[in-house]
Amino acid sequence: MTVHERLSKPLLNRRSIRRFKERPVPKEMVEKIVKAGQNAPTGGGQQAYSFILVSDEGKKRSIMQAIGRQAFMEEAPLWLMICIDWARFYRLCEELDLEIEYGPLTQFYRGVMDAMLAAENMVIAAEDLGLGSVFNGGVRNGLTKLSEILKLPKNVLPVLLLCIGYPDEEPPTRPRWPVEVVLHENEYRMPSDQQIKDYYEESNRRMTEMRYFTGRASSLADHWRRRFPRSLVENTEVKLRDQLMELNFL
Ligand SMILES: Cc1cc2nc3c(=O)[nH]c(=O)nc-3n(C[C@H](O)[C@H](O)[C@H](O)COP(=O)(O)O)c2cc1C
Repeated sequence: MTVHERLSKPLLNRRSIRRFKERPVPKEMVEKIVKAGQNAPTGGGQQAYSFILVSDEGKKRSIMQAIGRQAFMEEAPLWLMICIDWARFYRLCEELDLEIEYGPLTQFYRGVMDAMLAAENMVIAAEDLGLGSVFNGGVRNGLTKLSEILKLPKNVLPVLLLCIGYPDEEPPTRPRWPVEVVLHENEYRMPSDQQIKDYYEESNRRMTEMRYFTGRASSLADHWRRRFPRSLVENTEVKLRDQLMELNFL
């Protein structure tokens, strides 16, 4: 089997899965997934992350209230809340009499990188085990509430919810910009007007073909315009800043 063939399932054919079978994910698989997450590169070896497996139905309901319900949340049997975690490292430093404490911005910047690299490794491991997954970025709307629900200590910040389960759908892969547009050599090069136009037309055609648009949206532009109106974008920014400040990450 060539490298390309080996990687094609978990990497090149990966797509988000939003319909799941009513079949639990075995504990051994959960451990393999988490171990794969832990094997991701981590700045300074400090492993600034924790994953909270949410199995309690009451907590799941509270989380849906805090961040908004999305249909796949009800179906996915495995919920992993991906958190930036400096609390454990600081405890270790305390034990070792080391006076290390980063500023909020460094904690955020370095923590996001560690946590996201681990999260993507978990996505790939889940794919390889025959599972499917989807991230839920709604977490940013309920950072403080989530901290209460999950009893997160100071210096721990939830960033993404990863929902995993046995796929009950086989969606096509979603469009991506061509490699020559995202790969720059030596210096940044803005794609030409034609490349931008071609990309949009092709992705819009494919998204229409896969019946992606719901409600009154009938194109990608329409979809983005409705989903991200200026007022909502501004409100999200203010809310996010307030929450990050409250949780000592800004
Ligand atoms: C940070 C982040 C947040 C996301 N949040 C959501 C979400 O809240 N709901 C959802 O259905 N998909 C969510 N996704 C999945 C994206 O919509 C999806 O990855 C993207 O449309 C590309 O599709 P693909 O994963 O099938 O290639 C999220 C992905 C990322 C990386």
